[in-house]
Amino acid sequence: MSYKLAPSILSADFLHLGDAITMLNQSEADWIHVDVMDGVFVPNLTFGFSIIKQIKSVAKKPLDVHLMITQPERYIKDFKAAGADILTVQYEACTHLHRTIHQIKEEGMKAAVAINPHTSVSLLKDIISDLDMVLLMSVNPGFAAQKFIDHSITKLRELRTLIDEHQSKTLIEIDGGVSMENASLLLRKGANVLVAGNAVFNTPNPIETIHQFKTIIWE
Ligand code: DX5
Ligand code: ZN
Repeated sequence: MSYKLAPSILSADFLHLGDAITMLNQSEADWIHVDVMDGVFVPNLTFGFSIIKQIKSVAKKPLDVHLMITQPERYIKDFKAAGADILTVQYEACTHLHRTIHQIKEEGMKAAVAINPHTSVSLLKDIISDLDMVLLMSVNPGFAAQKFIDHSITKLRELRTLIDEHQSKTLIEIDGGVSMENASLLLRKGANVLVAGNAVFNTPNPIETIHQFKTIIWE
């Protein structure tokens, strides 16, 4: 079995963002994870449309855009135009989640929902079959390099069961505090996609680190 690795450019050197994208193009990374924060849903601000457009112009891999913003439905077309391939909205930020998910799909993107550490997996029961992916936040969103919350393993097990019960192809993405130390456990418990920011970019040789991540044996 293979899994997808999505390095998060939140931990890249922003003075040399182009170099980071070139490195990811050359690496074994599968997707490029782009964390969009609005300073309201989370206490931090990051990238907007013009930066994502420029990233898209050089990226050779799908852009996995994670929106940590309120009312994300306002900007679905804009993120499509900027170059998002996979668009993730936060469960807690959506009043009409079903409509939002289908609007994302109608724009030709893969649709995903992220749940915060306090949000129960059981709340996804009635939407799970509509989702291309669920992103389990294993830290409180807002910042890179935080400590993995251990209870996320229990949630991962519950989510795997929910998806399997529905015989759904929904992927599970884990985001926050992922490292070489916990990656094999996460994959064993049924994760399909791992996001890694700090664990990739804050190493001496990120391209080699990505290779190590991609050659983990967990089965
Ligand atoms: C956190 C973001 C994450 C973050 C992960 O709010 O959603 O994608 O970049 O960073 P690490 O891997 O350093 O925990
Ligand atoms: Zn993220």
